[in-house]
Amino acid sequence: MKKIAIIGTQWGDEGKGKIVNYFSSDFDWVVRYSGGANAGHTIYFDGTQYVNHLLPSLHPQSDTKGFLGAGMVIDLGQLIGEIRVMTGRTEGFAERIYIDPEAFMVLPWHKQEDAFQEEQASHPIGTTRRGIGPAYTDKVSRKGIKIYWLFEEDVLLELLKRIYTEKRSRYGEAVLNEPEEVARSLISQRQELVDLGVHFASSLDVSKRLREESVLFEGAQGVLLDLDFGTYPYVTSSSCLAHGIAVTGFSPSELDEVFGVVKAYTTRVGTGPFPTEERSDITSRIREKGREYGATTGRPRRVGWLDLPALRYACERSSVDSLIMTKADVLAGIGDIKVCRAYRTGDGITEMPASSHDFFGAEPLYETLPGWKDIEDSSFARFVEYVEMAVKRQITYISFGPETDKVYHRNEI
Ligand code: GDP
Ligand code: IMO
Ligand code: MG
Repeated sequence: MKKIAIIGTQWGDEGKGKIVNYFSSDFDWVVRYSGGANAGHTIYFDGTQYVNHLLPSLHPQSDTKGFLGAGMVIDLGQLIGEIRVMTGRTEGFAERIYIDPEAFMVLPWHKQEDAFQEEQASHPIGTTRRGIGPAYTDKVSRKGIKIYWLFEEDVLLELLKRIYTEKRSRYGEAVLNEPEEVARSLISQRQELVDLGVHFASSLDVSKRLREESVLFEGAQGVLLDLDFGTYPYVTSSSCLAHGIAVTGFSPSELDEVFGVVKAYTTRVGTGPFPTEERSDITSRIREKGREYGATTGRPRRVGWLDLPALRYACERSSVDSLIMTKADVLAGIGDIKVCRAYRTGDGITEMPASSHDFFGAEPLYETLPGWKDIEDSSFARFVEYVEMAVKRQITYISFGPETDKVYHRNEI
């Protein structure tokens, strides 16, 4: 059965949620395999906009099931809020949601720690303050709490006490919430999820089902925020590549296709290198027209031009087969378009960074292309072909508007 992944190729917010939503009805499952509520994936349904932070972006009115996989860090309170909103609009929605008990939880202390670390840092990362870094830190240092401990209340309390003591000794008063209170709240959240009809699946059972059925793996963030290959340390704390599906027990070689989503320009929230960033009237117009404000934090996104060296790098790093371009409608009517074709670095000119280190201090070299009025404009076709040639990947679909149905196969245009 068909398996595909849809991932972001820039610094996140490429429009993955919308694209996943568009394709989701053709799949039995949509699986989130990394990240947590730092993600903000926007979808439209019944004329209303929804932002999924933890829920997979499946179409609410379909039979598709959603799976929150083992690589995620889950904030139960946030998840309940999202499920309640969806259930209010679509009966039976919660019963289509499965959680892998191998996933880890984000605890209130992780969010406090995230905020505290950002406030104390000499070079803050500009995190979403959703507790992501601290939750993954606890996971790899073998102090995290897996979802399955929700079902063993004595052990849960014991583990919470240990974490609390350690965090309190490190951060003092910045760490609030007594462990007994956190345990009570987690257990009542677990009960609420059970009452809603959410499945706490046995990991191996669901893996078996996923293997036999069709699956769309929904990436979070983007390759340049990847913990290993992004612009470290200005990255998130998980895998943003298609390869990240390995944590769900699948090999990337089982994927029939990896789609990379690319915005026709570039945005970034938070700090860190961004070679094509421009602070000008034109990028302010792009920010307003494209509503470039963080879906999770509401922060204005930094805006710049399409960066082909970065896109080549992302495609190679994540074995992208073909691309889906979004938001070219935002650039319509703004005049000539700049595209970064190469970087000047300390070592000369490069068309593709050899490592994430090369993004620091890279100077963009631009090509100017004529702008377009609409999707049928020959200048737009030229832009699309220019990108395809530069990154040696086909752009198979084009999204030209925020609504889910505004996706066109290349052959339709
Ligand atoms: P994600 O994190 O990759 O899912 O992207 P976000 O949802 O954070 O940000 C993408 C924003 O662009 C959302 O507000 C989408 O509704 C919107 N969007 C997606 N595709 C298009 C498009 O083709 N055109 C326009 N104008 N907006 C789009
Ligand atoms: P989606 O899935 C854009 C950024 C934050 C910060 C850095 C680390 O919607 O594309 P974190 O809270 O993860 O520790 O923050 O990563 N970041 C995102 N930027 N889109 C996202 O997700 C992001 N998730 C994290 O702004 O710079
Ligand atoms: Mg987003």
